[in-house]
Amino acid sequence: MSNTIQKNLDYKKYVVSTKLQYFKPHATKIEKTFAEEISSSLNRDSKFIDPKYFYDKKGSDLFEKICSLPEYYPTRTEISILKQLQDELPSYLDENFRLVELGSGTSVKTRLILDILVKLQDTTEYFPIDISEILTESSEQLLKDYDGLHITGLIDTYEGGLQFLKNFDDKKNLIIFLGSSFGNFSPNDGCEFLKKINSTMKSGDLFLIGLDLVKDSSVLESAYDDSQGITAEFNLNILSRINDELDADFSLKNFSHYAIYNEKKQRVEMYLKSLVNQSVIVSKSNLLLNLEKNELIHTEHSHKFTLSQISELLDSTGFQIKQTWLDDNKHFSLTLASKN
Ligand code: TRP
Repeated sequence: MSNTIQKNLDYKKYVVSTKLQYFKPHATKIEKTFAEEISSSLNRDSKFIDPKYFYDKKGSDLFEKICSLPEYYPTRTEISILKQLQDELPSYLDENFRLVELGSGTSVKTRLILDILVKLQDTTEYFPIDISEILTESSEQLLKDYDGLHITGLIDTYEGGLQFLKNFDDKKNLIIFLGSSFGNFSPNDGCEFLKKINSTMKSGDLFLIGLDLVKDSSVLESAYDDSQGITAEFNLNILSRINDELDADFSLKNFSHYAIYNEKKQRVEMYLKSLVNQSVIVSKSNLLLNLEKNELIHTEHSHKFTLSQISELLDSTGFQIKQTWLDDNKHFSLTLASKN
């Protein structure tokens, strides 16, 4: 293993303890800054803020709250399916699997998979891939609770992390991508992403993906616009973040959260709606933004799928479906697939 790591010269290794280490790429990538991205995405006819900016500290806390709202069925439904898997997933696994998670997720879900793996092996390796550095806090709690656990965090984009894992060693990977985060990609980007995952897999590796299903629009719209207004607060928080970090003067009372299910495109569309004609200055982006009353700023799409679309999607990106599990209401799905 250490030989392979030596080859990953693009990464710096940080050892926290014998059971916890993480890798971080050297800052070689030239990425657009927040200010630059906002300057172009708000300076056009159909205005947009990239949803990756939702997750500052406040946004991450609000999202945790969303996950336990009565109207937000995806998290609790996916957890109920993961519980159902305790008996059924082991038949696809053996002692030679490490857990790789795209997005370090809520540790409730990770734990349900770890519960399965630790029964099959003396030591279990967990590789969370996440761009944010919150990894260490949740990792330390996991290490306290699971004796034979070893965690190697990859603080990188999903693509970067997957590339790191490619040819890492002979150990099989169970790659999990939960929470229907896949639904936040555009159909095109989603396909490319699945192909990328597939191309980094060895023949014995497995992929488990959680996808939200098409359902009644009233259920969908209340899941993304809850009665306590937490989702609204979460969406609006992105404007506070721009105020704080880019010296802008968005007045939050001049905007509202707007979520609507687009049946034809099978996606919940989330926007911030301007309630008045207004001008906003975003100093660090050199931007004077003019918004008309009712003008929309798009923040996120959340695509919903049918079972036949899921099988088509995985089929066309090089996977072979092993099994799909659903909850009783058929609200959410978990699909296990191998490389074709
Ligand atoms: N991945 C989540 C989803 O699509 C993200 C999400 C949930 C979200 N609620 C939201 C994004 C509200 C923006 C606003 O279900």
